[in-house]
Amino acid sequence: MAILKIARMGHPVLAKQAEPVANPVATGIRQLIASMIETMIDANGAGLAAPQVHVPLRLVVFQAAEKRADKGLSEAERYDHTAPLTVLINPEVEIVGTEVEGGWEGCLSVPGLRGYVERPAHILYRGFDREGQLVERTARGFHARVVQHECDHLDGILYPSRMRDLSKLIFDSESHRWADKEEE
Ligand code: NI
Repeated sequence: MAILKIARMGHPVLAKQAEPVANPVATGIRQLIASMIETMIDANGAGLAAPQVHVPLRLVVFQAAEKRADKGLSEAERYDHTAPLTVLINPEVEIVGTEVEGGWEGCLSVPGLRGYVERPAHILYRGFDREGQLVERTARGFHARVVQHECDHLDGILYPSRMRDLSKLIFDSESHRWADKEEE
């Protein structure tokens, strides 16, 4: 395992389409996953996509911790809003319904900034875990947001290009001036 260097906005690896992983349980993929998790935790990120560590493959890691879930949800509702540390290889995302939700996002490849992004509020996603087992879940709230954000990286998309209002692209150091800034 190793802490990997994170590519920053402007590096071509972040702008291109990533390739499918041929064998999710290959030794090299296992090592990459272990290092990506270590890198994500070290950088205090909620998610990380392989292109962000200069590897153009369709692989993401993320977590949607309980503390990020909206307050006041029932236990059943929370299920969709949280996710343990998850590895997704060759992921697919389907939008469920038409509801759109705005939230603040940050990105380890766009350090020091955050932006307000509107995305589908409810999704279904699937992919393979590091044992090669199929993972299939529905997601809402921050959980749905982080999965969409990470999977966008696999298609060369960074969150600023999802923004409708660039006046809400701000420095972290100014975010305390905004009331609804808790997501990242
Ligand atoms: Ni990102």
